[in-house]
Amino acid sequence: MKREQFSSSLGFILAAAGSAVGIGNLVAFPVMASKNGGAAFLIIYAIFVFFVCLPVMLAEMSLGRHTRQNPLGAYTEIGQNRAWRTVGWLSVITPFMIGVFYLVITVWIAGYLGKAMMGQLDLLADPAGFDVFINSNELFVYMAIVVGLTFLILQGGVKKGIEKATTVLMPTLFVMLIALVVYVLTLDNAMLGVKFFLVPDFSKINGNVLNGALAQAFFSLSLAMGILITYGSYIQKNNNIVSAGKMVAALSLLVACCSGLLILPAAFSFNPDIEISELSESSIGMIFMFLPKIFLALQADIGYFGASFIASFFFLLVFFAAMTSLVSIIEVPVASIMDGKGLSRRKALYSLGGAMIVLAMISALSFGRVDWLSNILSYGGNPKSFFALIYDMFYETILPLNGLLLCLFVIYRWKKQNLDAEMIEGNPGFAGSFLQKYVNFSLGTFIPVILAIIFVNTVLTIYFGYNMLTVFFSYIGFN
Ligand code: PHE
Repeated sequence: MKREQFSSSLGFILAAAGSAVGIGNLVAFPVMASKNGGAAFLIIYAIFVFFVCLPVMLAEMSLGRHTRQNPLGAYTEIGQNRAWRTVGWLSVITPFMIGVFYLVITVWIAGYLGKAMMGQLDLLADPAGFDVFINSNELFVYMAIVVGLTFLILQGGVKKGIEKATTVLMPTLFVMLIALVVYVLTLDNAMLGVKFFLVPDFSKINGNVLNGALAQAFFSLSLAMGILITYGSYIQKNNNIVSAGKMVAALSLLVACCSGLLILPAAFSFNPDIEISELSESSIGMIFMFLPKIFLALQADIGYFGASFIASFFFLLVFFAAMTSLVSIIEVPVASIMDGKGLSRRKALYSLGGAMIVLAMISALSFGRVDWLSNILSYGGNPKSFFALIYDMFYETILPLNGLLLCLFVIYRWKKQNLDAEMIEGNPGFAGSFLQKYVNFSLGTFIPVILAIIFVNTVLTIYFGYNMLTVFFSYIGFN
């Protein structure tokens, strides 16, 4: 059977941007930037996006388009041995497990959207609201809706499903985001937030901030999850991979910046004297506990109905972003089953979806509802829930490892000249350019080294409670 394809470069760009733009850009980025020096963090993040992440992104897309395979197929075909095949497995299992974790969060967002629309903003703003909701039976209704929608999109295939959904959702998302930024900037004291976001404070930058910024950039661009290999396998030969990659990176960064201009001004208009320590520590805390309070406070100006409208608008925006990311991550195992087992899309979706739903339900029950799931293991000095375990293992630990293995694979197994040939295909002017040399050099040298450091540091920190970077940076007298 002929492989499905995106109909154009733009179709691919929107699909890949749909994958990249998610909760990471909209929520995690502003939270991190606010804690870690505002524009100082932004500058470092942008450097990571273009100098470290972009080469990895181009490598993934090229590998996909060259092999016309899912990650397992790509590693198997070029790797030609069992070790690389195992790495291939890792890059299919990782998106599957991160997909479980991302599904749970998307379900929460859907729930908040539904509740805000039904006039229950006051419940969401209640400090106990989040805990009550994530442990309610209602959650499973939202899970059915999210899974149903995701399947509906994926069932349509590459052109009529993924591409069609993202070409509607992504432009809508951009317009909504800009509208919301404009609205928030008109609020009293909003400029304090803008100032806070745009004035750099480099004293906040230390080894852990650098580590966090890179991990965030990686996750945010959907790297090392096999997504861009899979989407890459649907790009036409005459499309320009390099400019598409730059575009996706730029869009993702742009959305992150806009989101900073949304969330921080909102926080400062809510309370002009707000202390950074009062802003929530995590993105989950920010989106599900802090923001609903801010939305509710708008009722003094625009009434309860107006406040609920703004809240619904925001959650709809985040929901669109999360859906397009969820779709991309589930497509990886779907494509792997279709390619590997020769199953139809529908059959692949059903078999995989079943397993995914079971795991998502187990995760959803691990927030206190079922005791042993809520404390399934203990390491690094903390008891961990099933949900936290998936997060630590796959997002924190295996993601940088996958990135590292991908760089080594592309440069030393597949070889530079093949990567070059693929990037030049559809883009003849790229041959001999600075970027071409940079991509080759960086992927074979310092990028894998950086990823190896992150991997080792994460393992030591999470599982052994020992942070190598903190020790190292204090040793050299930096922070
Ligand atoms: N890039 C997404 C974000 O920023 C993260 C993601 C995408 C996660 C796809 C999983 C799958 O939120």
